[in-house]
Amino acid sequence: MFNSISSQASKLINLTTRRKRNVDSKTKLITITSGKGGVGKSTFTANIAFLLAQRGLKIAVLDADIGLANMQVLFDIKPKYTFFDYIDGNKSINDVISQTSYENISLLAGKSGYQYSNHSNSFVFTRVVEDIISLNKFDILLVDTGAGLNDFVKEFLSISDNIIALTTTDPSALTDVYSLIKMLSIDKDKLMLCFNHTKNYKIGETIANSLVNLAKKNRLNQDFMVEYIGNVSTSANISTTGRLRKLFTKEFLDDDSTKQLQDVINYLLKNIY
Ligand SMILES: Nc1ncnc2c1ncn2[C@@H]1O[C@H](COP(=O)(O)OP(=O)(O)O)[C@@H](O)[C@H]1O
Ligand SMILES: [Mg+2]
Repeated sequence: MFNSISSQASKLINLTTRRKRNVDSKTKLITITSGKGGVGKSTFTANIAFLLAQRGLKIAVLDADIGLANMQVLFDIKPKYTFFDYIDGNKSINDVISQTSYENISLLAGKSGYQYSNHSNSFVFTRVVEDIISLNKFDILLVDTGAGLNDFVKEFLSISDNIIALTTTDPSALTDVYSLIKMLSIDKDKLMLCFNHTKNYKIGETIANSLVNLAKKNRLNQDFMVEYIGNVSTSANISTTGRLRKLFTKEFLDDDSTKQLQDVINYLLKNIY
């Protein structure tokens, strides 16, 4: 009992220091999560990184999916180190930041199958994020979390100011997103919601509204906002370019999905802090 209380306390202290310490950094943190796996989170993250970088912003991507770390595949690079080499104290933070072949995009590669329980009370992931932000080198840090609401994902969510949940309209994906809304509504201000595999902007908006209504009905925190930020269609080009280890937003500028992602970027640039 004592342990769990003191670990809660240390978490609070840790979060407070993060905010204070990084007040001077230009780096904004966006965390991408989903609840359900396989909804397109990593593809979404890699491609918004590309579109943001194209607008002249310096982007770092942290592959925080310990279930399936595949960001290096999407960017088609073979990084020498993962950010766990930094956690383990073998490498400096700069050593584990790899430049991708895309201008303005750096990657902190992850590792599948990591035993989080070894670190579950030590906030090492909070510190990795803090340290990247403290470098003051990047305009935006994108964190791609794994699926589910395990302690590892929760730690990343707890330190994030801007959280995007990507979902499909599939009932099981929506159930998972609702659980996420319930959890975040306790101590966050808002969640940005984006629909993948969704052809029509209106459909996403309608479903987002029904989630908000359900939250009201269940009397979740009234100050918590769910903001609908857009939709991405299913596109054969996305799966093809993924297999070829290329980014569809680079290869297919006129694809509907690329245009929809540009709209999402426009929203983000106006609304993240
Ligand atoms: N809008 C889309 N249209 C077609 N295929 C997609 C789309 N979004 C993702 N995919 C494909 O779905 C698969 C899973 O995507 P991925 O980004 O790895 O999901 P997650 O990171 O959520 O597990 C990949 O093969 C990817 O190319
Ligand atoms: Mg993924």
